[in-house]
Amino acid sequence: VKDHPATTITVRTQAQRSSPYTITIKAGLHARLSSFIANTWPEKRVFIITDSNVKKLYGKHLLQSLLTASVDAWLIDIPAGEESKNAGVVHALHSELLEHGIDRGSVVVALGGGVVGDVGGYAAATILRGVEFVQVPTSLLAQVDSSVGGKVGIDHELGKNLIGAFHQPSAVLIDPLVLKTLPDRDFASGLAEAVKIAVSLDATMFRFLEKNARAIKKRDPKILAALIDRSIRLKAAVVQKDVKDTGLRKVLNLGHTIGHALELVSGYSLRHGEAVAIGLVSESRIARDMGLISTKEFARLLHLMNALDLRLAFPRIKDKSLFLRALAMDKKSEGQSPRFVLLSGIGSTVVGVDVPSPFVEALLNAGR
Ligand SMILES: NC(=O)c1ccc[n+]([C@@H]2O[C@H](COP(=O)([O-])OP(=O)(O)OC[C@H]3O[C@@H](n4cnc5c(N)ncnc54)[C@H](O)[C@@H]3O)[C@@H](O)[C@H]2O)c1
Ligand SMILES: [Zn+2]
Repeated sequence: VKDHPATTITVRTQAQRSSPYTITIKAGLHARLSSFIANTWPEKRVFIITDSNVKKLYGKHLLQSLLTASVDAWLIDIPAGEESKNAGVVHALHSELLEHGIDRGSVVVALGGGVVGDVGGYAAATILRGVEFVQVPTSLLAQVDSSVGGKVGIDHELGKNLIGAFHQPSAVLIDPLVLKTLPDRDFASGLAEAVKIAVSLDATMFRFLEKNARAIKKRDPKILAALIDRSIRLKAAVVQKDVKDTGLRKVLNLGHTIGHALELVSGYSLRHGEAVAIGLVSESRIARDMGLISTKEFARLLHLMNALDLRLAFPRIKDKSLFLRALAMDKKSEGQSPRFVLLSGIGSTVVGVDVPSPFVEALLNAGR
């Protein structure tokens, strides 16, 4: 493990009150997590927030080693899954943090997938008007995407991620080796976000995915480390230029307008990444039908999604009006008609596209 090189990426956000932070990617990093935390935040009370699965796999161990290193540490867990992104869970977290004596100088460590990062980060952003927070992403989705950018939050009955804040982490610590224990379905979900980043921003990364699809599916650690590194660099570059999501950052919403609406109408039985995979294909179909990309480019995307086992059929939607309302409610829309980010090529997008409703209805009618 020792010979795995670490790569570090520095993110400067220009956000008020936040200083640059470092993202470290290193195989085997988890073994040194407790000494890193103990050295970086000596004298601070550390609250690890995790979920019921990650607690068993990595959380208890991290707590033990922090306690051994004489760090005043606590471990708090939430039920695994998207259902935990709600106000009740945030309230429960606030209560536990307060009961265990959190103060303005404490550090919250979000150890887990995108759900833990979003909910734990939101609890950290809101408790005592915000305490320092560290992301230790353990799912592929969180390692390639959600742990960087400072968006934290929860869902609302009316839509995904409608309640939240911008709260930049003070460090992001990524160990690709923990992906060994990730279930296949969650691994695939993470790949969907990686494809989104590649196809929307970088033709070179897209070719990398095409060339290495097999190794990626086998979870080759070297290839995964390269994939994570590339994704994070691309996302960080976008986020740095548009911290508060008012312009450029909208490109990261590719596949998400349809994806978020699908997640909602599925009652969150679809994973976020699965909904994004369907959203990517559906929105790219619209882009092709509107003449923004060629049939050949569309076929290339489908081919890559196939190679990565990411082809999911558009589901049959019983409540079409709920789906259309969810589309309009997507927080990236302006006024009532949903605005889409659409591909204009492999590695490029156009934002704010007003898609005439027949294009959306064609998807709904094709659903099985
Ligand atoms: N804030 C952002 O910028 C942003 C970006 C993209 C997605 N998201 C959010 O991220 C969420 C999805 O994230 P996710 O796919 O990581 O879901 P998740 O957090 O539910 O994790 C998926 C599953 O994997 C388990 N798990 C995590 N790491 C593991 C490991 N190393 N070994 C074994 N099991 C492990 C979890 O317990 C969970 O059951 C969605 O809510 C989505 O909205 C946020
Ligand atoms: Zn996403």
